[in-house]
Amino acid sequence: MDIKISPSILSADFARLAQDVQQVKNAEMLHIDVMDGHFVPNISIGVPVVKSLRKATDLFFDVHLMISDPLKYIGPFSDAGADLITFHVESDSDPDEVIAAIRERGKIPAVSVKPKTPAEAVFPYLDRVGMVLVMTVEPGFGGQSFMADMLPKIKALRCKAEELGLHLDIQVDGGIDRETAPQAAAAGANVLVAGSAVFGAPDPAGMVDLLRQAARDAYGSGR
Ligand code: DX5
Ligand code: ZN
Repeated sequence: MDIKISPSILSADFARLAQDVQQVKNAEMLHIDVMDGHFVPNISIGVPVVKSLRKATDLFFDVHLMISDPLKYIGPFSDAGADLITFHVESDSDPDEVIAAIRERGKIPAVSVKPKTPAEAVFPYLDRVGMVLVMTVEPGFGGQSFMADMLPKIKALRCKAEELGLHLDIQVDGGIDRETAPQAAAAGANVLVAGSAVFGAPDPAGMVDLLRQAARDAYGSGR
């Protein structure tokens, strides 16, 4: 599987967002965290920021919706420039309807599980999504510690995808750094989100390359 790095702008400096984003143009994606203060106990950014950022970069937009009613916002985020939209299986929207709405707009659907949600919760949707996101922290805040007890969940999802013959991206989000990126990749994750590790580094682009190489070297070795 290709290894892709998706820096999370939650850890960027919002007063100089365009410059920070241009620093990581060597990344495969840009991770944009949308929080509504209801699904998670924090509020982050919304549609206007995505729209403005779209003019500032050609990076692929990986939009992570941590909101209670994702169905309502698929249209606005698609129009604003999202390329891939991740919603949570724990949200109030019907997953089949959300997936259909994302596909109708020509975007890639992805589904996410919080730490307490088992891998099996997304098995029914694997053939209709391009990616599954395994949260490796409780969603809501950057800078938390990686939950190593999520590794079996990553392995279970990679096994299931292979059993179904699917070339599925498996993304991890939360606490990814030079130590934990290889652990997640070893378990079968190939798309790595990193916020504080990238934007907290003196050389963000260099850190993107380091994380990618560390993950490539380790991919699949822990299974
Ligand atoms: C947390 C967000 C993450 C966050 C990750 O709810 O979904 O994308 O930015 O931040 P780090 O990499 O610092 O754990
Ligand atoms: Zn995220």
